[in-house]
Amino acid sequence: MQVIAIANEKGGVAKTTTVISLAGALVQAGYGVLAIDLDAQANLTLGLGLQPARLRRSVADVLLNSAALLSVSRETSVSGLDVVPANADMGLAERFLPVRQNYEYILQNALRDSPGLAAYHYVLLDCPPSLGAVTTNALTAANLVIAPTQPEYFSAYGLRSLMATIRRVRSQSNAALSYYVLITMMDRRNRIHRTLCEQLQVTFGEGLLKTIIEVDTKLRESTVAGMPITHYFPKSRSAMQYTALAQELVNHVQEKAAVEISSQSD
Ligand SMILES: Nc1ncnc2c1ncn2[C@@H]1O[C@H](COP(=O)(O)OP(=O)(O)O)[C@@H](O)[C@H]1O
Ligand SMILES: [Mg+2]
Repeated sequence: MQVIAIANEKGGVAKTTTVISLAGALVQAGYGVLAIDLDAQANLTLGLGLQPARLRRSVADVLLNSAALLSVSRETSVSGLDVVPANADMGLAERFLPVRQNYEYILQNALRDSPGLAAYHYVLLDCPPSLGAVTTNALTAANLVIAPTQPEYFSAYGLRSLMATIRRVRSQSNAALSYYVLITMMDRRNRIHRTLCEQLQVTFGEGLLKTIIEVDTKLRESTVAGMPITHYFPKSRSAMQYTALAQELVNHVQEKAAVEISSQSD
């Protein structure tokens, strides 16, 4: 099982859209996916067709009250994709987590203590637009972080604080954490976008995912419909790009597993 956190301190860079669309693409490729909403704004929960205000229990019960992760998970309209929803209570988590001892490990332990989780191949974590206690929990629980960024100056600049957070988490609570940067909302006609893409390539090299997600208004429509783009508009450009992204990630995971197996046999 792979745990992938989608994180960036900046809002509006397509974190939630990437969680929903990547989940859809992974499900279409035959993998079981659990998406966990960690944002008090509950956009992932809404985007998968649930009403946050009507939820009696949410991910905040897992983080604050030791509820079992799968006791709050729900099925979505997409077969193979389940969600652990969030609501406004996640605002409390951001405030009250830091006063607990070893709070960084709460989500990691909740994942570890869920035997039913073996049914899923991928767990996707939708992080809030901050680098506080909740994102630290996600990065501690994850094998991999994906940092979506627009090819805009401020977005690219904002990656610095995420990289600093990743370094801190590596030294304190999760030495094995790796990361990839993902370019989203690219407009190929925009010269600045093309220049920024080249700069990101130079800065991050192998750390930049080859797949680029371009601007596509159909993504907004599918969110309103409460469905992943891969299921709502399977032939759209962004559905194909998120399918390519899923394939690229699956390849990385398999290569890494192969490296680990060969180093064990050395
Ligand atoms: N590739 C894209 N093309 C056009 N609009 C997009 C794209 N990706 C995301 N959006 C839109 O941008 C807005 C912000 O995306 P969202 O996923 O909510 O970002 P975040 O979770 O980082 O705050 C949403 O309205 C979403 O529909
Ligand atoms: Mg979001």
